[in-house]
Amino acid sequence: MKIAHVVGARPNFMKVAPILEVIERHNRRPGQEVIQSLLVHTGQHYDYAMSQSFFEELGLPKPDINLEVGSGSHAVQTAKIMTAFEEVVQREQPDLVLVVGDVNSTMACAITAKKLHTAVAHVEAGLRSGDMTMPEEVNRKVTDAIADYCFTTDRIADANLGVEGVPNDRIFFVGNVMIDTLLTHLERARRSTILETLGLRDGDQPRSYAVVTLHRPSNVDDPRALREICEALKTAARRLPVIFPCHPRTRERLDAFELTGMITDGSITMTAPLGYLDFLQLNAHAAMILTDSGGIQEEATILGVPCLTLRENTERPITVTQGTNRLVGNRREIILAGIEWARRQAGQRISRPEKWDGKAAERIVEVLAGLARSGALRSGGLRQAVRQSVG
Ligand code: UD1
Repeated sequence: MKIAHVVGARPNFMKVAPILEVIERHNRRPGQEVIQSLLVHTGQHYDYAMSQSFFEELGLPKPDINLEVGSGSHAVQTAKIMTAFEEVVQREQPDLVLVVGDVNSTMACAITAKKLHTAVAHVEAGLRSGDMTMPEEVNRKVTDAIADYCFTTDRIADANLGVEGVPNDRIFFVGNVMIDTLLTHLERARRSTILETLGLRDGDQPRSYAVVTLHRPSNVDDPRALREICEALKTAARRLPVIFPCHPRTRERLDAFELTGMITDGSITMTAPLGYLDFLQLNAHAAMILTDSGGIQEEATILGVPCLTLRENTERPITVTQGTNRLVGNRREIILAGIEWARRQAGQRISRPEKWDGKAAERIVEVLAGLARSGALRSGGLRQAVRQSVG
């Protein structure tokens, strides 16, 4: 069986890494049906810090194919990915296309594969924020509507898929591959010297500091929202160091709205996007994390670090009910109240959501190996005919 694994943007790399590794282990076991992996990078993220550094640190193989689509409006980026990926599917004839997460590359490749009658598996299916103004929510819903195999991180996601009419036999509750990667690399991350580099140690002990990440259009494309967040961060930075690894689009917007000066006057440490291990070490020792990212809410839950999500909603409600997460939106006063709440959370007990145990990729590969054994995906005479007629 041949699987095309799609990665495009930063949050995809740590989700695909454990799956590829478990497939390699599976292939080395005698008597197993070999699963061939083809790694396709769409090139949605292309800077060293947003892409290649993750391949190096996570031990990901070099992509077999890089579509080099780069940045663009949603329609342009999606169209470029679809056009280039269609050729890949026609040429490589994978039995299954595996997509992860909710970025434009996820949706674009799922649609392309499906229209060529190629089976699609979606890892991290069923997450819903209920907010259709988020590009990721559109990507999630479209992808799940057409995926043949929906791998979910929790029971809430299963229920969401059920409500949308996805039959039970397409849903597989496997746990969280992003947490597989976190647990694999936590020990190695301790060797990172990022705390020393940023002056965040007092002797042997980490100082109390906050980590901030921001990139959602709803926060960074709206000058009023971005200003309010910057004001809250500046106020917070009077009491504890604030470290802000800055996403390229956020850096552009801060400059465009003339806000960079406000937060780089010494109170906040802005850095380039960090590598996986440095960022993990930084988060693991933080007093709190302020973020609008999806995955970081989950990582904070497992690390037991209070997390303030700078959004009105989350597609990962389990991080609120069971984890350390609180939604604070983007208004200055509410963020500051959240920071006071986070200060009081130090030392809270960590409760780990079901199956966030480092074995999600194993469960996924078990399902895939079952498909390989059964030959279920190779019976598609129609698929072959469609590919030939389109090609
Ligand atoms: C994308 C995902 C988002 C994910 C985020 C993680 C979509 C719709 N959004 O958002 O879900 O959480 O990645 O980072 O897919 N840029 C660079 N260098 C790069 C990549 C991007 O400078 O390597 C800049 C460009 O100015 C670009 C902008 O970032 O125009 C937006 O990049 P894009 O990939 O379209 O979306 P993100 O905001 O990164």
